[in-house]
Parts: sequence; C-alpha cells; structure tokens
Amino acid sequence: MTDDSKKATLTFGDKELELPIFTPTEGPDVIDIRALYAKGGVFTYDPGFTSTASCDSSITYIDGGKGELLHRGYPIDQLAEKSHYLEVCYLLLYGYLPSAAQLEEFENLVTNHTMLHEQMVYFYRGFRRDAHPMAIMTGVVGAMSAFYHDSTDIHDAHAREVATIRLIAKMPTIAAWAYKFSIGQPFVYPRNDLDYASNFLRMCFAVPAEEYEVNPILSRAMDRIFTLHADHEQNASTSTVRLASSSGANPFACIAAGIACLWGPAHGGANQACLEMLKEIGTPDRIPEFIARAKDKNDPFRLMGFGHRVYKNFDPRATVMKQSADEVLELLGVENNPVLQVAKDLEAAALADPYFSEKKLFPNVDFYSGIILEAMGFPTSMFTPIFALSRTVGWISQWKEMITDPTMKIGRPRQLYAGESLRDYVNIEDR
Ligand code: SDX
Repeated sequence: MTDDSKKATLTFGDKELELPIFTPTEGPDVIDIRALYAKGGVFTYDPGFTSTASCDSSITYIDGGKGELLHRGYPIDQLAEKSHYLEVCYLLLYGYLPSAAQLEEFENLVTNHTMLHEQMVYFYRGFRRDAHPMAIMTGVVGAMSAFYHDSTDIHDAHAREVATIRLIAKMPTIAAWAYKFSIGQPFVYPRNDLDYASNFLRMCFAVPAEEYEVNPILSRAMDRIFTLHADHEQNASTSTVRLASSSGANPFACIAAGIACLWGPAHGGANQACLEMLKEIGTPDRIPEFIARAKDKNDPFRLMGFGHRVYKNFDPRATVMKQSADEVLELLGVENNPVLQVAKDLEAAALADPYFSEKKLFPNVDFYSGIILEAMGFPTSMFTPIFALSRTVGWISQWKEMITDPTMKIGRPRQLYAGESLRDYVNIEDR
C-alpha cells in the first residue's frame, strides 16, 4: 500500500512538508497526514469527513461513480442473486467464501445460539408498550454486556468469536421480540428447523393460536434485504462502532452505539421516514408540491430515500431491491398499492427533474426496502430495526478488523476552536 515514490508536498507559511501517499487496491490515493500537526503545527479541517479516510479496511469497497459495491471483492448484485445472508456474513467476517462444510458449521453455530437469556424477558417488560423498537434494541443489546460476561474480553480471540456468533444469532430474536412487545403479543421463540430469514418472519408474525407457514418467496425477499444491508464501508453507524471500540469498550456496548446512530432519519431511519413521506404525499397529484419543497433552500424538507454521500450515480442495492419489490408486491397481489404507485411516480418525477440529476440524487437502498417491508406487514417502526439486524455483521466485521490491528489507537479528533480566548472570571455582583 505504501509507495515511497509518491509524495505530496504541502507548502504554507515558511513550511514545506513532504507527506507520504498510499495507493489502495481500489479507489483514490490517500495522503498520510498523521505527522502533519507534529511537523507543521496545523490540523486538517473536514467536518462530516467528506474527504477523510478514517482507517484502512479490506472488507467493503464502494465506487460511487460506477454504482459499485464489493464485499471482499464480490459485487453485491452477484451476492444478492447467488448467495444468502449467512454466507455473506461468513464472507464479511473471515474474508473468503466458505466451503460447504465451513458454511454448515457456521450456520449450525448461529442456529444454536438464537435464544436469549430468559431473564432478558423481564428487561423487555421494563419498557412502555409504545416504546419505539429501536429504543428497545439499543437497550437490550447494550444490556447483553450484563448477561454475557464471558464474551466481553476484546483481547481474547475466543471471546470475540463467541460475541460475534451471539450477536448475529440473537439479533433476529431481539428485533422480533421488540415488535411483539410493541403490539402486545406473546414472544415467539426461535426454531432450529428454520433458516435465518424464515425464523425471523415466524418470530414476528406467528401467534400461539395457530400454525404459521413461512412463504418461501417472502423469506427469500427477507434474506435479500438482510444481504443488501450487511455492510457499507465507513458509514455513520459503522464509524460510531469503530470509535466506541477504539476505547476498548465491550462489543455489545459498541454495537448498541451503532444501533443508536443508525436510528437517525438521515441514515438508517430513512426507510421509515421514506414510507411516512410517501403516505403524507398520499396521491400522485401531490408529488409536484413535495418536489418543490425538496428543492426549496428555505425548506428543510428532503426527499427521504434519495441521495447518498458516496453514490453519485445509482445505489446498486436499490436496483436489486426494486426487483424484489416487484416480486413481493406481485405475490401479495398489491402491485396496485397506492403507496407504491406514489413511489414509482415520485421516482420518475425526481429523475426527470434537473435539480436531482445535476446534484446526483438518485433513489438509495431505503427507497424500496420500506415498500417491501410494508407489503410484508411490518409497521414503519420496524424498518430501522431490520436494517440494524442486517448491519450487525458489518459492524462486527469492522470491529474485529480494528480490534485485531496492532496499530489501533483510540480515536480522538481535534477541532477548529471558534470560542472565546482566555478571560478572567467575573463575580456575579460585577456582571
Ligand atoms: C443510508 O453512508 C452510508 O453508506 C449510508 C447507507 C448505509 O448503507 O450505511 O447507505 C444508508 O443512510 C442511505 C441514505 C439514507 N438517507 C436518506 O435517504 C435521507 C435523505 N438523503 C439526504 O439526507 C442526503 O442525501 C444524505 C444525508 C443521504 C447525503 O447527504 P450529503 O452527501 O451530505 O449531501 P448534502 O447534504 O451535502 O447534499 C448535497 C446537495 C445539497 O444541496 P446544496 O446545498 O448543494 O444546494 O443535495 C441536496 C442538499 O440540499 N440534497 C437533497 C437531498 N439530499 C441531498 N435535496 C433534496 N432531497 C434529498 N434527499
């Protein structure tokens, strides 16, 4: 990665600094500014980290211009079509596609760790019934630090592996129980004879009063949604997990921090916000009014499900998700769903509008995922918990990559200070 022949020269004031340039496997070169403050006495300034590489990673690569997303080199459209979520988990965690025996062992491990410590049932009961499932997930995952002490030592490889399996295996149960709790239905326990996605759908929609048969088309669509959300470079929630992990916090606390960050409507909360926006628009004739608001600089309203910090062409996940949306809606006989009609007309109107094409604002992964989840019967409040469930493997893979990096340092950014200079205290009688 280091290429001694490539240097950047930075000249300012009476200083001239030579900074090393690293050449990645894919993507733009990186200027190493680690010595900048020590040698030059200055900071760089990059709020929002639009031009900053916070780490080196081998897990996921995005080419925003080409609309390309690679997981350990494999393109997301091939993985979505030919693989399945637990195999993609293995790939993200260990760096290669597993043999049949390796995959079977991994899937058995996950299957046999889907139950929660029974005492956690009482933890759920401490919430109000109208608690947002993301509030419950943030709390329950953080509380796993208090239930699974034997897998909190980040310096122990076996403990890291146990924590990894526990988190991937238990997230569907945690999310499904958050949903059941919010609708006042009894918890449904996981079953070892069901695959990962089918187990989740059954824990969400089965009731003790009758048998529940999982529709294979819906479980395939669910598994595809999990796969499409698995990892995405150093997005806000993954960066949160890395920063929390850099202090040596235990994995459950770090993943809970990632869940909390994902909740925001500019990030993982966008799928819920997108569906709520489509419902607020209501009918295609109101689309021009909302497009105008999205373009109005004085209006904070933005089109939820549109735009992306990195993708300035199209989000390859949205392309796959759109295909799934058509399959699921046709199966459920809701292809005439008024919300979907608004979504399709909104997408066409926005893509035809120069404001969006000039600013490279295209539908992102959240634009279609919400439509599929709504068609499956999930309330909008469950959209982000499903995103969090899916992204857990990405957070853990990035956490493990950082924790096992011998050069890891605690993250501690600096600032551009714009406050008062030194001044003396003024007694209250003199103010
Ligand atoms: C996810 O990082 C990841 O990888 C995230 C994610 C993942 O898998 O982890 O992909 C998941 O978070 C997808 C994004 C979901 N969020 C939304 O759909 C919310 C709506 N989108 C916007 O909030 C916005 O597009 C962001 C936050 C996604 C990206 O914002 P940026 O890159 O910081 O862009 P910006 O705010 O600087 O906007 C650039 C311009 C601005 O106009 P100008 O100031 O240049 O005149 O585009 C405008 C913005 O006003 N703009 C929009 C818009 N998004 C940006 N205008 C209307 N509607 C929008 N959605």
